[in-house]
Amino acid sequence: MNANPKKLFVAMVGLPARGKSTIASKLKENLLKDAIKTRIFNNGQLRRRLMEKNTSFPEFYNPRNIEGVRLREKIALINIERAKKYLAGKGNIAILDATNVSLKRRDLVAALTNDHPLLFIECINSDGEILEASIRRKIILPEFQHLGEDAAIRSFKQRIDYYESIYAPLARERNFVRLDSLNNKILKEEIHDAIPYYDRIRDFLVTDSVKNLFLIRHGETYFNLENRIGGDSRLTEKGKSQAWALARYFQKKAIPVIFTSEKIRTIETADPIQKLQEHCSIITLREFNEIDSGVCEGMSYEEIKEKMPSIHSSRKLDKYNYVYPGGEGYVTMQARIDRGIKKALYLSGNASNIMIVGHRAVNRMILSHFLYRRKEDVPYIYIPQDKFYHIIATQDKKLFQLKRFEPLDRG
Ligand code: F6P
Repeated sequence: MNANPKKLFVAMVGLPARGKSTIASKLKENLLKDAIKTRIFNNGQLRRRLMEKNTSFPEFYNPRNIEGVRLREKIALINIERAKKYLAGKGNIAILDATNVSLKRRDLVAALTNDHPLLFIECINSDGEILEASIRRKIILPEFQHLGEDAAIRSFKQRIDYYESIYAPLARERNFVRLDSLNNKILKEEIHDAIPYYDRIRDFLVTDSVKNLFLIRHGETYFNLENRIGGDSRLTEKGKSQAWALARYFQKKAIPVIFTSEKIRTIETADPIQKLQEHCSIITLREFNEIDSGVCEGMSYEEIKEKMPSIHSSRKLDKYNYVYPGGEGYVTMQARIDRGIKKALYLSGNASNIMIVGHRAVNRMILSHFLYRRKEDVPYIYIPQDKFYHIIATQDKKLFQLKRFEPLDRG
């Protein structure tokens, strides 16, 4: 083997809809920042470009379909050939983005890429709910447009089943990482050769990265006017005009996806923003629902102080750890908020801009996920309704900025 330390093959491994392409493209962007020349060779894209007829139907992926197997192998070989040429020239890293789930296919890849080291990255995600949501996002692809939604989902799941029937997890390969791609967690790592850029790649794999996250609190509600907590109140006229001001502010930025809670006030805030965008979907996540204040839902802070003084004083004493009777506390929200963030990042792929419209307590928790704060300080983070947080969190840049979206009324 030519041990040129500046050249590397990376081969992705994993069932469809496990985040392989997102990870590949984010990794590429990261490496390019350091002038590490990286290119992705994606079998699915090449298949769609080269095949005249639609190859989205599940039988094409049946391992017993000899013609399908032959065509898919042909695509794989073309990409391997192209990747080799790329590395023989100026390229540093060639990423083979395909399922590569069978031993047979991986043996082929290993045999043909022996001019440089080869690193396999396996993406694993067995979270049924997230898988379901990512399949729903997959079937937007043009190749599923001739099918209704249910038929498209069935077809995609059948394709996954076929891949599953030949799936062999990474185990005996010389260099590999098995990654929980939802939680950015390395499950297993085996490295036997000198893998160039490995430290950088590994750090990237375990980093939560988001290029631009706009974290917004819903506009003013009727409950806000009365200082009431929880509930499912609508926006006031002022709240609606805040939502439109946000919509105008973000009109020139492409926001492909807005995550909201299930509460009307966040959806009503997201609606105008979506309206002024060209392609934008709203995804509601229950993980982003406001703190459940249990027996205090719908009460004002004054009423709580008056009618339930022990709740008022205990919460004051240790706001982070205090759990409302029959409800939640910041401390118990942690797990679901983390899960919501993972879901949102996973579902937004490699989008340049994403937006979350949340609530006061929720946004505090989201902020503190990206910017470390002492737990006891989290319940006091400032979350206004006339400003939003712009968050950038990548391997080499962390930025937090509180920005105003409406001109100041100095009247
Ligand atoms: O008042 C709005 C609100 O979002 C309530 O629904 C929620 O209980 C509260 O803010 C959270 O803020 P704090 O933890 O400071 O009471």
